[in-house]
This record gives sequence, structure tokens and C-alpha cells, in this order.
Amino acid sequence: MNESPSQFRAPVGTHDVLGRQSALWEGLIGTFATLAYRYGFSLVITPLFEDVGVFNRGIGETSEVASKEMYVFTDRGDRTLALRPEGTASVVRAFVQHQPPTPWKAWYVTPAFRYERPQAGRYRQHHQLGVEVLGTDDPAVDVEVIALAWRFYAAIGLQRVRLLINSMGHDECRGRYVALLVTHLGEHEALLCDEHRQTWSANPLRVLDCKRPGCRAVTESGPMLPDHLCDDCRAHFDRVVDGLERLGIQSTLTPRLVRGFDYYTRTTFEFVADALDGAQNAIGGGGRYDKLAEQLGGPATSGIGFGSGIERLLLAREAEGVDGSLVNRTPDVFVVDTTGTDAATLYADQLRVAGLSVQRAYDNRSMKAQMKVADRSGARFAVLVGPTELASSQVTIRDLRSGEVSQTQRSVARDELVSVMLDLVTKK
Ligand code: HAM
Repeated sequence: MNESPSQFRAPVGTHDVLGRQSALWEGLIGTFATLAYRYGFSLVITPLFEDVGVFNRGIGETSEVASKEMYVFTDRGDRTLALRPEGTASVVRAFVQHQPPTPWKAWYVTPAFRYERPQAGRYRQHHQLGVEVLGTDDPAVDVEVIALAWRFYAAIGLQRVRLLINSMGHDECRGRYVALLVTHLGEHEALLCDEHRQTWSANPLRVLDCKRPGCRAVTESGPMLPDHLCDDCRAHFDRVVDGLERLGIQSTLTPRLVRGFDYYTRTTFEFVADALDGAQNAIGGGGRYDKLAEQLGGPATSGIGFGSGIERLLLAREAEGVDGSLVNRTPDVFVVDTTGTDAATLYADQLRVAGLSVQRAYDNRSMKAQMKVADRSGARFAVLVGPTELASSQVTIRDLRSGEVSQTQRSVARDELVSVMLDLVTKK
């Protein structure tokens, strides 16, 4: 599409979705909605902004996202609000507020806002498809949530996806592990990267995530979380991994996978697309957050979910060479009206009421101009109505995809238009 040099453009790190992209988005969202329904989830919609405390408490004030990337603003009533940087904290806030019966299974599609350094696959407004389940810590739910994501990736044509999995343990066993890690990092502080030499004591788990050689070397020789899980957390984790295996879903134990938010407990996971560049290859991620509802002022309630970035899913499809938009968005019929009357409005309405997808031209353009638009629309059939047809209460139907006009064009009585068109479209 041609871009005009107009004064206003979408802000840096954001983009508009239109043209061919819009059918791809619709296909992805539709496929996810269908699967979510199959797995027993219903749609939840929460506000795009919340009291900043929802995110500070939820994802952790010292997390990278809350401390450096959140869009925080004061409204005209002097409230401090933040644009949602992710979906989970808002959904759990809504759960605490409304206390729906549990297990509560909700899915969402939402923009998320993070002040990041924009690059391919990393945006300031991205969009996530996700689910959350509240009210059970049954490992079967972990399996189900991960399986939903896995089946979704397969349904949209991705084949080169790997599942990385870890357990963060619960407060106590993680606490014991963090104490060991702190001792280890303290002993090797001088070798850490510049950033983590300053910050490791405030957030020691982050160092595990760091890919710089210094931090890598230090953590490689240090303690790893899965070796320090308590018996309950270990048993939970084993049941998740075994359960996935029974469904034919292979996971790779990844002890460094600590994820970026403070709310995670026990199972954490990420899906990486091998067709994408390493830095931005996470197409989805999630985990358990058994303390989050309490942290947001509710009763103790376990939870688990995942979010998947729509933009990255589309990049992964493109990188894998997956064709097709998952939905057909070409019209069935294009009505060409050169009578100067409201015939096109009337016929299009009748055909649409009958269930067909119909496009038409506007502004009384010439037959040639309208036919050009009809061809461009990809419609299979054109319904032509000019002065001659109008006078004889007929319409002409033309098959736009076969070459020979004489063989593909026929006149039908105006009253039969809907039934003939339905017949033709369902047979095509
Ligand atoms: P997250 O890993 O931060 O987790 O984001 C989920 C997914 O959103 C990522 O795997 C990636 O595909 C996409 N994503 C994240 N940031 C960006 C960005 N700046 N540009 C493009 N895509 C991005 C969460 O947000 C958690 N709420 C997931 C969750 C749900 N955990 C439990 N329930």
C-alpha cells in the first residue's frame, strides 16, 4: 500500500492493522476464540487502564516492565493510572472484584503497552491472546492450559515451536533457593555484567535470565531452582510434565526460565518459534500465580494462564512460510448497478439477509469502473442491473472467474435472484 506523507502517523512502536493483515488477524483471533470455547473458556473484557497499584503489586514494582516500561499517567481527577502492560493482573483484579464461581476460565484478546525500544517483534503497543484459570491448583489445569496454547499454534500452521518449562516453586522453597543464589552471586559479584553487578541483590533471579557472558558463567556454576524444590512443588511439576507427555507434548526443562513478573509460582513456561530470530522468538509465555489474587486483596486463590503475542505469531507464520489467512474474506457476490436507482441497495440487502457476503460500488460510477472494483474484490459472481434489466424485472448473473462471458452469464427473473445465487454460491 502507498503511504502518504501526512503530518500524523501511528506513534513509534505502534502500527495500524488493515488490508491483507486484517484478514490474518481475524483468522488468528477467530481460531483462538473457537479453541478457547472448546476448552471451556469464556471471554473477559477489562478496562485498558487500571489503578497503577494493580500492576505494581501484581507484576512487581521492581520488575523491568513496571519500573521502566509502564505508561503511567494522572487523570483529570488526580488518580494515578497505568495502561495495561499485560493481561493477567487486570483479569485477576476483575476476579477479586466480582468473585465469579470457580474454577473461573476466562480468555481475552487485548492490546498491551510497554515503553520498549521498538524493533522487529518488539513494540510499544502489542496484542495478546490469552487465557487465565482461577480457583484450582490441580496440575491437570496446567496441562490443559499449555495444551490449549500448543494446539492453537498447530491450528494456525506453526510447526517449529518448542515448549520450555520450569518450576519457580512456592514462597518457601523459592525463598530457600534465592538465599543460596544470593550467596553464590555475592561470591562472584565481580564477574557479573555491568547492569547486574549493580542490581543483583534487589532481584537475584533476574541474573539467571541474563545472556551476557559474565552472568552466564557465574550462574552456570551456581545453584538451579529445580534442584531445590520442596516435595510438593516437585510432585506438582512432575505431574505437569508427565501429563503433557501423555498428550504427546514434549517440553524442555529450562532452569533459567524465571520470566519477567514477580507473580509467578510453580509452573512457568514459554513457547519459542525456532523460525524467528533468538531475541524475539518467544511467541507465548505464562505460568502459575498462586498468590496473585491475595496480593490484589482477594481470598487465597490459585491461578494459571498464558499470553501469546499476535504480532509475533504472524511473524513466525511468515518465517515458516505458512500460507493463508485462516478465514476467507472475499465476497460471494458483487452487485453492479448502472440504473441510478436504489436497486443495488435493495438486492444487496436481500442477498445479505439470505446469508451471502455482498459488496457493491457507490457514487453511480460507470459500468467499466464498477466491474473493475468487482474484479478487484475477488467476488466469484457479479449481479448486473442496468436500465434493460430494470425494465424487464430481470438481473444478469456473471461468473467472474471463468473467462467466456457467453458461457458464464445468464439472465434470471428478479424474484429468483436470491434462490439462484444461494444455489450457485453453495455449489461453487
Ligand atoms: P509476557 O511473556 O510478557 O507474558 O508476554 C506474552 C507474550 O506477548 C510474549 O511471549 C510475546 O509473544 C508477546 N510480547 C510481549 N511483549 C511484547 C512486545 N513488546 N512486542 C511484541 N510482543 C510482545 C505476559 O504478558 C503474561 N501476562 C502471560 C501470562 C498470562 N502469564 C500468566 N497468564
